[in-house]
Amino acid sequence: MSVIIKTPKEIEIIREGGKRLAEILAKTAKMVSPGVSTYDLDQYVYKLIIDGGDKPAFLNYKPDGMPTAYPASLCVSINNEIVHGIPSKKRILKEGDIVSLDLGIEHRGLFTDHAITVAVGKISAKDEQLLADTKKALEIGIWAAHGGNTVGDIGNAIETFVHNRYGIVRELAGHGVGVAIHEDPYIPNYGKAGKGQKLIPGMVVAIEPMLNLGKDDITVADDDWTIKTADGKYSAHFEHTILITEGDAEILTMV
Ligand code: MF3
Ligand code: CO
Repeated sequence: MSVIIKTPKEIEIIREGGKRLAEILAKTAKMVSPGVSTYDLDQYVYKLIIDGGDKPAFLNYKPDGMPTAYPASLCVSINNEIVHGIPSKKRILKEGDIVSLDLGIEHRGLFTDHAITVAVGKISAKDEQLLADTKKALEIGIWAAHGGNTVGDIGNAIETFVHNRYGIVRELAGHGVGVAIHEDPYIPNYGKAGKGQKLIPGMVVAIEPMLNLGKDDITVADDDWTIKTADGKYSAHFEHTILITEGDAEILTMV
C-alpha cells in the first residue's frame, strides 16, 4: 500500500475540481423528476463537464478485473441498485424512486469523486430515513477522519453509528483519490478503531457509505456493472472527496 501525499499546488487544483464537481452534481439533482431517463441525466452531466473544460472521469474507465470499460459519465443507481448503474434511455425515473447519482471529474489532470442519493417526487418515510441516515453516516465518517486517526477509525465510526439498523455494503469501499480515481488506501465502511493506514495531512480520500434497508449482501447484474442488493431492498449512497489535515478534514466536493 502506498498512499500519495498531495502537494499544496495539487490540493489547490483538487479543491477547484471538487467545487466544480459539486456544482454539477447539485444541478443534476435538480433535473431529477418523474419521466426523466437516466440517459438524459448522463447527457446533461457530460455537457456541463465539457463546457467547463474538464473531463468525465468515469467514462471509459476500466478498473482492474472488470471485463469492460464504464460506458458513461454518471453512475445512476435506482432503488435496489447500490452503485454503478449504467444510464439508459429505457430507464425512466418515477415518483417514489430513490436515485444515487455518482460522478467523478478530472480537472487539470486531477480527480475528485462525489455521490448523493435523491428522492424522485414523494418517497416513503422509511426511504426518507434511509437517505438521511446514509448522509449522516458519511458526515460521521468525515468527522472521524482527523489527521493522526486511521482508516479503521473511519469505518468504526460509520459502523457504530449504523448500529445494525441497516445493512452495510462490505465489498465496496472508500478510497484515496486525486492522481487517479482510485488510489490507496482502501477505506471500508466498517472496521476497528485505531487499525489500518494512518491518516496523514495532505492525503485526499473519498469516503462513501452504502447502506441497505435489508441485508449487507450484494449481487452484480448481467451488465457486469450494476451492483444491487441481493434481497432486493432499497439502498442509498453518499460520497465526498475530503482533504486530511491536522484537525477536521476539509470537504472538497462542496459548492
Ligand atoms: N465512485 C465510484 C467508486 O468509487 C467510481 C465508479 S467508476 C465507474 O466506486 F467506472 F464505475 F463509474
Ligand atoms: Co468513489
